[in-house]
Amino acid sequence: MPTHEHFMQRAIELAQRATGNVSPNPLVGAVIVRDNVIIAEGWHKQAGEAHAEVDAINNAKAKNISTKDATMYVSLEPCSHHGKTPPCTNAILDAQLSHVVYATSDTTDHARGGAQLLQAAGVSVTGGICEEAARQTNRFFFHHQNNKTPFVIAKFASSLDGRTATRTGNSQWITGQEARLRGHTARQAVDAILIGATTAIKDQPQLTVRNPQAHEYTQAAHPIRIVLDSHGRVTTDNAIFDTNLPASTLVVTTDAMPAEHANQLKQLGVDVLTLPCTAGTTRPDLSALLKELGLREIQSLLVEGGQTVLGSFFDEGLVNEVWAFIAPMLIGGTEAAPSVGGLGIDKLKAAPRLSNVTVEYLNNDLLIKGEVHTCSPE
Ligand SMILES: NC(=O)c1ccc[n+]([C@@H]2O[C@H](COP(=O)([O-])OP(=O)(O)OC[C@H]3O[C@@H](n4cnc5c(N)ncnc54)[C@H](OP(=O)(O)O)[C@@H]3O)[C@@H](O)[C@H]2O)c1
Repeated sequence: MPTHEHFMQRAIELAQRATGNVSPNPLVGAVIVRDNVIIAEGWHKQAGEAHAEVDAINNAKAKNISTKDATMYVSLEPCSHHGKTPPCTNAILDAQLSHVVYATSDTTDHARGGAQLLQAAGVSVTGGICEEAARQTNRFFFHHQNNKTPFVIAKFASSLDGRTATRTGNSQWITGQEARLRGHTARQAVDAILIGATTAIKDQPQLTVRNPQAHEYTQAAHPIRIVLDSHGRVTTDNAIFDTNLPASTLVVTTDAMPAEHANQLKQLGVDVLTLPCTAGTTRPDLSALLKELGLREIQSLLVEGGQTVLGSFFDEGLVNEVWAFIAPMLIGGTEAAPSVGGLGIDKLKAAPRLSNVTVEYLNNDLLIKGEVHTCSPE
């Protein structure tokens, strides 16, 4: 007989279909089950559109399937508030469902309490089924709720010996096509992508999502582009400022950027954010940047390098997850750039280590992913 976990896994799979499309809302999926058979499915497709519970109920209605006394599995506790759409608890009561099974609690101040409300109305409620998988699916949402800053992913492609370019700066391409397409699924998932001024100047990247599989079920969602440029070195004719690109571009700078350059950027529609410098440097303070992005409801940030920028993020302990694409090649050379620069750590005990590590084989390349845990220094 199928278990609670079996149906909840399906609800989580449905939730993940909208990856990159619902921020600042959470990803949510729902299935309605009667006699151990799924009779309707739904998922939240876009902020402002029907929530997963309502989508599933509407799908049942559209097929004239009764939901009376059926069980709903939903990956997040149903909301109890009027937002852009009415409360899901109302829809569940109207649909006369007798049992609701959810994975993670909704801790949002304005939406919490749905389980209690349903119980008080006589609906049987079970929580915590596949909680970890559902929490992982919504890790950007929960991180932003708890910390008011975005969840930071560091992504890089390197050789087996940890180099991201040759000693002459030749860096395209280290990994193959399949790995690069997989990299685009990371872009699709996040609200913003960040690079340093030197990568913008050398690579002229567009930072768009270019993998049709990354948005199989939804519209392509393009994250905003962020360039760290303390002095205004990235000229206005750079590819990243192309006005035809989807989504917006933000240049993060300091008082050292000439006002004329800032004005030219603004005329191109580029947002310019001036921040104080990190103590002892002439570069914008990254913690201040993350706070500002959090206020702008940016829940997730993909840091794509280069090594100087990644070094700063790691040195300041600001990385939550790593996506390391590793190609089976050796570049060598003491002058060839490593994947992570900065100061680094002095004792291995202080090294950021990964947990919940997964390994994917992408043709000849590997993708090693994991959550970052920084051990305290001796
Ligand atoms: N293999 C990969 O995964 C990968 C990915 C990306 C890039 N790359 C390669 O990396 C190379 C560029 O790397 P890079 O290390 O020279 O430069 P980078 O990391 O792209 O940019 C570094 C510059 O960003 C600016 N910046 C502003 N605020 C900063 C802060 N808080 N922390 C750090 N930097 C800050 C600084 O210039 P200002 O002081 O002038 O502001 C700094 O020199 C390129 O050749 C590119 O192809 C490889």
